[in-house]
Amino acid sequence: MRELLMIPGPVEIAEDVLREFSGQPSVHYGPEWTNIYKTAQKMLNKLLRNTGLTFIMPGSGSLAVEAICATFCRDRRLLVASNGWFGDRVYAICSSYNDEAKKLGLPTVIPADPNIISRELKNQKFDALFMVHVETTTATLNPLKEIGAVAKEQNVDFFVDGVSSVGIEEIDMDNWGIGALAAASQKGLECLPGLGIVAVSQRLLERARNRKGYWFTNLGVWLEYYDKWNDWHPFPVTVPTNTIKSLKRSLQNILDIHGTEARTKMFENTVQVLRNELSELGVKPLGSFSDQCNGLTACNTEGDYRPSKLIRYLLSKHGIRVAGTLGTISESVFRIGHMSSVQCSRESVTRTIAGIDDFLKNQVRKL
Ligand SMILES: Cc1ncc(COP(=O)(O)O)c(C=O)c1O
Repeated sequence: MRELLMIPGPVEIAEDVLREFSGQPSVHYGPEWTNIYKTAQKMLNKLLRNTGLTFIMPGSGSLAVEAICATFCRDRRLLVASNGWFGDRVYAICSSYNDEAKKLGLPTVIPADPNIISRELKNQKFDALFMVHVETTTATLNPLKEIGAVAKEQNVDFFVDGVSSVGIEEIDMDNWGIGALAAASQKGLECLPGLGIVAVSQRLLERARNRKGYWFTNLGVWLEYYDKWNDWHPFPVTVPTNTIKSLKRSLQNILDIHGTEARTKMFENTVQVLRNELSELGVKPLGSFSDQCNGLTACNTEGDYRPSKLIRYLLSKHGIRVAGTLGTISESVFRIGHMSSVQCSRESVTRTIAGIDDFLKNQVRKL
């Protein structure tokens, strides 16, 4: 039985995206390759509504977060607003570059309140704010547009960890005043793991230029090579070409074939069907489903059974992999990922619900 990945990344990906990856590696320089790389960059800009430049780097989401810190946050009065484990991770990365970085700990499992962030920014005179869009450990969706408005009003640079939201949630970098945003290839972009992605606004590109200190994580270095080797090797290192070809194919599917509006409907429909069916089985949300994002669902077992037991059962009896979570709630929370078209298909959702139903009937309720 082939394992069905219903976790919040890496996700199940489409066959045409996989085909681009297979075969001998493509060369990472020359006009043909440069055209592929730049097309992927442009498509990411379109998806994120960014008129600046998007860098595609070998690495993961954490590298993308770290590149934003290394380039833009070292010498700023930086506030990291966190309502969960990944928000704390952003703070950990930022504080390794900036001793003065301050964390604003917000209540978890509910969306961050822009008014609290606004008050903190005013009181302490910060000049940069960093936060996570979707807090993957709890599925909480933070109101990015409203928080962007608060940052703009107070003239504060706004940085975002969009690792679990890009390709799924609405993002409008230009209009929401986002200075730089981190993403990764293996979630809503429906590609293999291996790429860290950083979108930088037009305004902040100028600040990255000639930035000194650090090398791989310094976007100033990436920009320097983008400028000086632009038409044959517009990046400083060997990039994973086949993964980038897969990303380009996936972006084509996301932008052209599904169309972004149809894609939004796909997620909304999945969320509605999955959460209704979970509720019918008596499965409770972590917090409220209405506060959760569109790419994953977090459920609270309320002490009735251990998430690890459900995870093992689904894997061994049904070939379905769902996820636990991180941090103090890990003894009572499991998560289902629905970040890609394959995960959102009716077949995947039905199979997952049937597995959970079987587990509850045979492993929990009969006891
Ligand atoms: C919100 C968020 N930020 C950062 C990361 C780290 O990404 P990576 O594991 O690709 O480094 C993750 C991973 O799941 C995430 O969900």
